[in-house]
Amino acid sequence: MREIYMGGLQGQLPQTTSYEVLESLAKSKIPLEAYNYVAGSASTGSTCQSNLDAFKRWQIVPNMLNGVTLTEFDSRVTILGKEYPSPLVIAPIGVQAQLHPEADLATSRAACEIGVPFTLSSATSTPLETVAEQGGFEEGEQGSDKWFQLYWPQDDELTESLLKRAKKAGYRVLVVTLDTWTLGWRPRDLDRAYNPFLKGEGVANIFTDPVFVEKYCDGKSPLRKEATPDEILSASATAISQLSPGISRTWTELNLLRRLWGEDSPIVLKGIQSTSDAVKALEFGVEGIWISNHGGRQVDGAVPSLVQLSNLSSLIRSHPLKPGKKVRPSILFDSGVRSGSDVFKALCLGADAVAIGRPYAWGLANNGQAGVLDVLKTILADFEINASLAGCSGLKDLGPHLLIRNDAAR
Ligand code: FNR
Repeated sequence: MREIYMGGLQGQLPQTTSYEVLESLAKSKIPLEAYNYVAGSASTGSTCQSNLDAFKRWQIVPNMLNGVTLTEFDSRVTILGKEYPSPLVIAPIGVQAQLHPEADLATSRAACEIGVPFTLSSATSTPLETVAEQGGFEEGEQGSDKWFQLYWPQDDELTESLLKRAKKAGYRVLVVTLDTWTLGWRPRDLDRAYNPFLKGEGVANIFTDPVFVEKYCDGKSPLRKEATPDEILSASATAISQLSPGISRTWTELNLLRRLWGEDSPIVLKGIQSTSDAVKALEFGVEGIWISNHGGRQVDGAVPSLVQLSNLSSLIRSHPLKPGKKVRPSILFDSGVRSGSDVFKALCLGADAVAIGRPYAWGLANNGQAGVLDVLKTILADFEINASLAGCSGLKDLGPHLLIRNDAAR
């Protein structure tokens, strides 16, 4: 906070500390289609709105005179077998080139600067090897770490190839997104016939994959200079049908990913919302459960992700571990987090770490790497001040006792 004030006094104003202003700044800098793609959600938008409203129904009860020191607030957290300086995570967001030319690299470098783990989407604008090499991981804060998110291809050979590449490039955690085996009904994109993938965007990982090129492009890379527009369109359509195949996988098929990723390497399932899925994930023995409804972009009229966090977290914490497992799975959460108090509430309701989605996308659109960094720093400072004022000296003090549920709150 002091850094933000002092910078401001010396003429270095933050891009903004308001989410609404940030979104409108971003909107003014990118094509309308790109704005709609990020802001949009499923069908009537009710899940996206419910995600936001759910935070208002949990209200914080502050405690006083407990000798708390803001500068010593302890935000450190251990998740998925590693300690990080704060409980924030970068959620995977595809097609970042439509927001800023430096795309995923700008985001990963910002994340590394502040020691926030970075989740690379399957649907990136930059190949996973390039992000691993140039994404700032070497020089980053202690805690900077790269995770790879999988949109599970229909083709097992392609899946194997992608995971081998991600492992080789040093991605530590595999995040398997379960809720987007087919794309949700997204009116803002449908109304303008916008699909960035059909323009060859967001398929960098697939287009650079040797199995994809060999099996689906007759050995001719769609990235070579002489590739025709028709060839690129056809390769993009094939890539989409792999990333979002329209056929849901089953629980038993997860064994394949375990075998490919390794017995001791962390696997996180992203998109868990129901009790029965949480139990199946525990029985499977995952290292992390990521409670998310994809920012309301998949099922319209769905339960808010925060409500399901409060319903599932105690079950996950108390469920017997799968034989052979020593540590309970980490609980990650996203969908609707916009401020420090949202982070506080999600942690009190049982999340070990909270992932940031749209806010950093707007920061990226507004000001590249510096814009993403500003967003992360703003949310973190807001969180630490809020938590301290509520009477906490660190994450260890947070819990449901600090919240009351008020269904009348708007
Ligand atoms: C996403 N999300 C997402 N998730 C994923 O697993 N792989 C992906 O490639 C993407 N791509 C993506 C693009 C855009 C534009 C958005 C807004 C979201 C979902 C993302 O990881 C996260 O779950 C949500 O963004 C969280 O919701 P909020 O905080 O953005 O409302």
